[in-house]
Amino acid sequence: MTFTGIEGKVALVTGAAQGIGEAVVRSLLQHGAIVAAADRNAAGVQALADEYGDAQRIRAYALDVSNREEAEHVVQAAEQQLGPIDILVNVAGILRMGTVESLSDEDWQATFAVNTSGVFHMCRAVIGSMAARESGCIITVSSNAAGVPRTRMSAYAASKAAATMFTKCLGLEYARKHIRCNVVAPGSTDTEMQRMMWTQGSNIDTVIQGSPDTFRLGIPLGKIAVAQDAANAVLFLASDQAGHITMQELYVDGGATM
Ligand code: NAI
Repeated sequence: MTFTGIEGKVALVTGAAQGIGEAVVRSLLQHGAIVAAADRNAAGVQALADEYGDAQRIRAYALDVSNREEAEHVVQAAEQQLGPIDILVNVAGILRMGTVESLSDEDWQATFAVNTSGVFHMCRAVIGSMAARESGCIITVSSNAAGVPRTRMSAYAASKAAATMFTKCLGLEYARKHIRCNVVAPGSTDTEMQRMMWTQGSNIDTVIQGSPDTFRLGIPLGKIAVAQDAANAVLFLASDQAGHITMQELYVDGGATM
């Protein structure tokens, strides 16, 4: 798949060490972007950068998106080393499963700190420079759980719904500055996070020990996504081909959300 308008752009990707974030990084590089790959897993993201071995094309940054100062520091460092950020992709996320009664305060707060405040911190850190240049593109990887109630996923789903709406509001505030803000909402995608769900239990009440087959049942296309499926949607939204698209939510869930 080829998209134009990405070559030479500077992209900052959070949650870049594995899964969907890693697929986004590889895809952006393939399309000629210069990538700041950031993750709480510093060793993981450094290994990814080392694989390419070209500091002009990809640099690794240790970052906990829930920490405002770190978010601002990484944006500053990336802009100094690679250039002003044209594309921000918010991928970092965590999933704490549990019934409302079993979720701890810490589960709730950690979920919102990463999935919601993390998106806010990153967007606020890049938006001034984008606005000054009257150009930019922000993509938040949310979840199809943001739009459909789930059992044992209330904190996660609520945090993703907030991130989705925040991203759309941002898009409205900065539309006149030609900054497009969109959301990719994956469904079940074969990554470490999803594998944790298969072992810890699905979103279906009666199924405690979930399995890939359980999840396929709710997906009309009959298969679980791979990370590249979400990355393709990110690439499209970052490209010239999506130049007139903003404040939208693109579901990549095999039709699970109808
Ligand atoms: P994953 O667990 O494989 O990867 C998440 C990455 O985010 C990891 O590299 C992790 O170190 C990083 N991360 C976690 N907390 C962080 C923090 N505070 N600061 C910086 N980095 C942090 O997960 P996956 O599946 O690749 O998920 C990526 C995004 O897609 C997440 O936002 C997730 O909620 C979302 N998503 C995933 C789905 C799935 O089925 N895998 C479905 C719907 C949404």
